[in-house]
Amino acid sequence: MTTALYSDHAAHDVIIVGSGAAGLTAALALADRLKVLVLAKGALTGGSTAWAQGGIAAVLDAGDTFENHIRDTMIAGAGLNRQETVEFVIERAPHAIERLVQLGVPFNTEGQALHLTREGGHSHRRIVHVDDATGWAVQSALVRAAEAHPNITLLPGRACIDLITGRHEARYSGSGRVWGVYALDEATGTVEAHTARATILATGGAGRVYQFSTAPRGATGDGIAMAWRAGARVGNMEMMQFHPTCLYNLDVKNFLITEAVRGEGGRLLNPRTGHRYMPDYDERAELAPRDIVARANDAEIKRDGLDFVHLDISHMPPEFVREHFPTIHEKLLGLGIDMTRQPIPVVPAQHYTCGGIVIDLAGRTDLPGLYAAGECTESGLHGANRLASNSLLECFVFGEAAAADILARWDSFDVPPPVRAWDASRVTDSDEEVIIKQNWTEIRRFMWNYVGIVRTTKRLERAAHRIKLLMEEVDDYYGHFRVSTDLIELRNLLQCADLIVRSALTRKESRGLHYTLDYPDLLPEPKDTVLVP
Ligand code: FAD
Ligand code: SIN
Repeated sequence: MTTALYSDHAAHDVIIVGSGAAGLTAALALADRLKVLVLAKGALTGGSTAWAQGGIAAVLDAGDTFENHIRDTMIAGAGLNRQETVEFVIERAPHAIERLVQLGVPFNTEGQALHLTREGGHSHRRIVHVDDATGWAVQSALVRAAEAHPNITLLPGRACIDLITGRHEARYSGSGRVWGVYALDEATGTVEAHTARATILATGGAGRVYQFSTAPRGATGDGIAMAWRAGARVGNMEMMQFHPTCLYNLDVKNFLITEAVRGEGGRLLNPRTGHRYMPDYDERAELAPRDIVARANDAEIKRDGLDFVHLDISHMPPEFVREHFPTIHEKLLGLGIDMTRQPIPVVPAQHYTCGGIVIDLAGRTDLPGLYAAGECTESGLHGANRLASNSLLECFVFGEAAAADILARWDSFDVPPPVRAWDASRVTDSDEEVIIKQNWTEIRRFMWNYVGIVRTTKRLERAAHRIKLLMEEVDDYYGHFRVSTDLIELRNLLQCADLIVRSALTRKESRGLHYTLDYPDLLPEPKDTVLVP
């Protein structure tokens, strides 16, 4: 609700929502010429970037070529990728790595060269990494550089609620032009209007829409939902990636066991029989793309009524395992598992949102003044399934591309007009927080059970029915009570669940990550699922 008049000073030229790899890359690329405000929900390091393990894919090996990387990406993506985007990103990968080296990311080396590890779906070694905690090293270097830049203001603890558009101008224009965001100050509970000439959404994925996910708590699809509500198209939301190997542990729910464990020789075993089953499913065995390995794990678990399968690298020398996977080794030891001697119990879990806000090669969305980059987007890179370690890369390339486009067009961007302040005069404090918790749990459970790795039309329709009922309840709640981060996230989770289910119902084939028993075949022509608000 937005009624009272408010004139914003627009102290910043560009607003970026999100402080992960995409957001901070864009901020650093803009800040030599423009004043940038970065808003982040919770802590600056709260996104998926800090959690990335395996690394970043780039053609750096003498025997490798861009063509190989492009082909591997298109094979993993089951032909749904846009070739133009794939080429655009992959050809820029070496430059992106060079920039990170300049920022001080301490990538592992082998002699004078960067050490390259291997992951599923890659025909060559091409993953640069910092042990098995690449994301933390990258996130820390980006935050350090952003904090040191005089033109970047970092505001953590701000949960953005909605985009400010022509509908919120003091003199209503109703246009789709985006002027910034309404954001909840999580410490004070007040809602601020932040305006700027250009806005970039870099809010990450929607993984928490599923009960089991490797993604952090805040991956609730906020940017995707905000862009959709403001009128931007979203694409391929049915393409939810499930990682084959998330640790199975009753206390630690979402700890990833990097794909590099399989890349360095790890094998998947049926814990009941000890049988190494991946060669039965695919000739690439454990190094098949993730959709295939995740489905195989799921099939073994369901067929034999197992709680988990085993990932075993104990046949490799203990020193090799400790040296390559120090973080995982340490974490597992704390849970009583010595991976140098024992197999690791693993299950598939949601891992990556391949679909999102539709963008072009410059990071532009459908809405004037609005850009997007990183996991919240559908750029055409991943198609029906993301190739491992291509997503951090996408963040760097599109963070820079969006910044370059804003700089190139800067003179054509108008100064934001006065906009209306957030009106909280007709809402009260909630006396029923339990509704949020209940709905949140319910969504995540039915999404896991009905919209998971293997789908059917009937299950999708059941999910759609529940979403409709919950939307009425949540809309009613949202209209009456003061916003909180939990409520903002619930509303967005539900919106994303709706987009995923509608997209899944639209696709009448099985392609990449979308596998349905009712349409098991591939249609001859790959076609994006694009939803129009
Ligand atoms: P994120 O890093 O997720 O950042 C999102 C930002 O948006 C955060 O700052 C968050 O606070 C902010 N935000 C969200 N909503 C709001 C809101 N409403 N208001 C304000 N701020 C908001 N990819 C690889 O390429 N290689 C890997 O090895 C790899 N390993 C992974 C391991 C794990 C466990 C996970 C979960 C993912 C991994 N990925 C990996 C995927 C990769 O980490 C992500 O795709 C990538 O980091 C996304 O970056 P991003 O900048 O788009 O978003
Ligand atoms: C992993 O380390 O297995 C994750 C890599 C990725 O998600 O790209």
